[in-house]
Amino acid sequence: MTILVTGAAGYVGNNTVKRLVELGKPVRAMVRDLDKAQKRLAALKGQVEIVQGDIMDRERLKQLTQDVSAVVHLVAIAIEKGGQTYEDINYQGTINIVDASANVPRFINMSQNGASSALPYRFLKSKGRAQEYVAKHANAWTALRPSAIFGPQDEFFNSIARLVKLTPIVFPLIGGGTAQFQPVSVYDVVEAIVRSLDDNTTIGQELELGGPEVLTLGEIQKRILGALNTSRLLVPAPVGLLRAPVFIMERVLPGSPVTSSLLELLAVPNVVKDNALISHFKLQPRAFSGENIAYLRDNKLGDTIQKFLRNATVN
Ligand SMILES: NC(=O)c1ccc[n+]([C@@H]2O[C@H](COP(=O)([O-])OP(=O)(O)OC[C@H]3O[C@@H](n4cnc5c(N)ncnc54)[C@H](OP(=O)(O)O)[C@@H]3O)[C@@H](O)[C@H]2O)c1
Repeated sequence: MTILVTGAAGYVGNNTVKRLVELGKPVRAMVRDLDKAQKRLAALKGQVEIVQGDIMDRERLKQLTQDVSAVVHLVAIAIEKGGQTYEDINYQGTINIVDASANVPRFINMSQNGASSALPYRFLKSKGRAQEYVAKHANAWTALRPSAIFGPQDEFFNSIARLVKLTPIVFPLIGGGTAQFQPVSVYDVVEAIVRSLDDNTTIGQELELGGPEVLTLGEIQKRILGALNTSRLLVPAPVGLLRAPVFIMERVLPGSPVTSSLLELLAVPNVVKDNALISHFKLQPRAFSGENIAYLRDNKLGDTIQKFLRNATVN
């Protein structure tokens, strides 16, 4: 039976839909923006049911969850814009889709490493509260908690690569470069999603997903410069120094790559304790290096400007 994927034109979403179709699974892809979906899912024309839906529209969600065997819930926002808040989209949106899925036997929730209702950071709090609701009310749920996800179309690592294009000599070591991450490939995350659907031992579990290495942001920035075959003078820019420029950027640029609330998250190590890619799925996760990050070179100066000034979908 059909699998409903929410956030299907998103970064993890379109990769998930492509993999499910490859595996011969019928997919209903819920998207908010049909134009973006046409671009991202063009290769699947005729092989996937593309439907428009807003995660805040409870009636629409009731229709879209009819006759589906599983929901893969990928809608969330990392940056608040256009009047959308973390509380609405990440928390209430998850309540809406869980409630609409009362008759759906299986539910995969994309959570986030570090998500917790106990934290003061609004983004992580909204994702933590959402998962608490899933754990209480969804049928046969599995939650995945990835660290930062890399791959073509990612926002985080591509944004750093785009900033390199705008800073010819000196490049700031964001927050001093000490924040820790465990970058995980989008292809490994997608594999965890599709395997979870058929693996009942994942039911009721929150599975952390990470890459093979813990990297500081400074090391990540150096690897990005390496992938771009370029070098810059790296100058530490403590969070305190970045607050004012980021505050201005998020008000002036429609596609600001960073916001005050994301800047605060640098204080929370984005490192996984038990990497389920290895311990549960027995996979060897891809590293944030070499050919796996060659896609960062695809960022053109024109795309950078379009992205920051118009928030255009450039990849
Ligand atoms: N990317 C990471 O590093 C990372 C790490 C850990 C966890 N995650 C989680 O992975 C999931 C997918 O993230 P992603 O990186 O793929 O983000 P993404 O590319 O922004 O995808 C999210 C999708 O949600 C859609 N959306 C936003 N508001 C909506 C609404 N009101 N109604 C319906 N759809 C709406 C967006 O639509 P538009 O395209 O129209 O904006 C977008 O396609 C999220 O739960 C995220 O928290 C991501």
